[in-house]
Amino acid sequence: METLVVDHPLVAHKLTTLRDVRTDSPTFRRLADELVTLLAYEATRDVRVTDVTVETPVSPAHGVRLAKPQPLVVPILRAGLGMLDGMTRLLPTAEVGFLGMIRNESTLKAETYATRLPDDLSGRQCFVVDPMLATGGTLAAAVQFLFDRGAVDVTAICLLAAPEGLAYMDKVFANSGKPIRVVTAALDERLNENGYIVPGLGDAGDRLYG
Ligand code: PRP
Repeated sequence: METLVVDHPLVAHKLTTLRDVRTDSPTFRRLADELVTLLAYEATRDVRVTDVTVETPVSPAHGVRLAKPQPLVVPILRAGLGMLDGMTRLLPTAEVGFLGMIRNESTLKAETYATRLPDDLSGRQCFVVDPMLATGGTLAAAVQFLFDRGAVDVTAICLLAAPEGLAYMDKVFANSGKPIRVVTAALDERLNENGYIVPGLGDAGDRLYG
């Protein structure tokens, strides 16, 4: 698995305000939206394209268009919804699938309560969006859903990641043979005894939606 921590002053600036406990929900939503667009720029670096030629007013010009099948964007409900608009702004022709997952706060295990994905993802590149990668249980289950339907590679875009979650993803998918990337704005210190990322930003779903 490949991990990319996006090192950019604008990303760091927006993330710092997101972390701040004094940031209200409307500002949090706007910053999450802006951040995902910056992260998505890096996360889509390997999106598949095909060569095309267009006519400019002057001459033919060689260029590229997104290849078919179009990428699939998968927000993990609920907090991932706060990152969906930022993704579709960058990839307006992408299809969108939904996964509803919640972490049981006693066991820290991910539980799935909704799936609305195409049955056949053969040949598809998938982009999972979820603000937090904590223990990694949620993301691992989401990636497995996509691989089970035939996805060829999965890139996860997370605002924050914990070392424990990345290690868990590495362990679970060590022999999957399929490319997995995690693109994040920051790799934080650790998880606390409640499974929260430290220093983190609190509960992203609550801060987005109350
Ligand atoms: C949060 C977060 C991830 C998950 C991360 O969602 O958005 O989906 O927890 O935890 P993990 O890496 O330990 O599995 P939560 O379960 O709070 O649900 P919500 O989005 O509905 O608030």
